[in-house]
Amino acid sequence: MIEIRLTDANQWKAFIIPYKFALDKLTIMINHINQEAAALYDYNPIEHIKSRLKSPESILNKLERKGLPVTFQSVTNDLFDIVGIRIICSFVSDIYDLYELLRKRQDLKIVECKDYIRNPKPNGYQSLHLIVQIPVTLASETKQVYAEIQLRTMGMDFWASLEHKIFYKYNRDIPDRLKRELRDAADMTVKLDEKMKAISDEIGRIESPYAQLTNRAQLQT
Ligand code: GTP
Ligand code: MG
Repeated sequence: MIEIRLTDANQWKAFIIPYKFALDKLTIMINHINQEAAALYDYNPIEHIKSRLKSPESILNKLERKGLPVTFQSVTNDLFDIVGIRIICSFVSDIYDLYELLRKRQDLKIVECKDYIRNPKPNGYQSLHLIVQIPVTLASETKQVYAEIQLRTMGMDFWASLEHKIFYKYNRDIPDRLKRELRDAADMTVKLDEKMKAISDEIGRIESPYAQLTNRAQLQT
């Protein structure tokens, strides 16, 4: 077992390389999905994407929080969100379409899906979370690297950013009144997402090209 020493920059540099490549590959993959849709169907399922590699400090904190040994083996096998990609969409339907497209790909494997859109967290948090594995080829070997993909609408993203700030401002203990306000705001986000979708459907022109491709009818509730 190799212990993590943050003071050893070389050790860290070598360890993080496959994660950086996984992030690059996923970013290109997702941009290609958007470019293909724009070129062929004049449609953009993705508004924008954000990505990050977990910092060494957050990795150590998470190992400690989960009671895991401070070793590279444990980061490799037990932490799935060193690579994080957030995909922001206009509509909930885009999120499930993208999920279907990702599910069908040969170059990525979905190992877990948590649907906080159909089942929001008690605080009102919504997003679709995927843990995926993608192959990264290095000079010495091909590694399967885990990554977390979060898909959400702009409204859900707005809500989550604000809730995140409040959570830390109050040191993880949000006062009850603000909790209620956040729940209200989450309900309004759901309504806004539905309203925007209904308006866009009425115009008709921006119907997703994936409706048939992904058999979304089966996914929608
Ligand atoms: P971890 O051990 O932290 O990975 O817990 P988990 O796997 O149960 O986490 P989950 O998949 O529910 O959430 C992981 C990520 O989703 C977090 O790092 C946040 O980015 C986001 N997230 C989850 N819940 C909330 C929430 O209540 N508020 C906000 N703002 N973000 C959340
Ligand atoms: Mg997690």
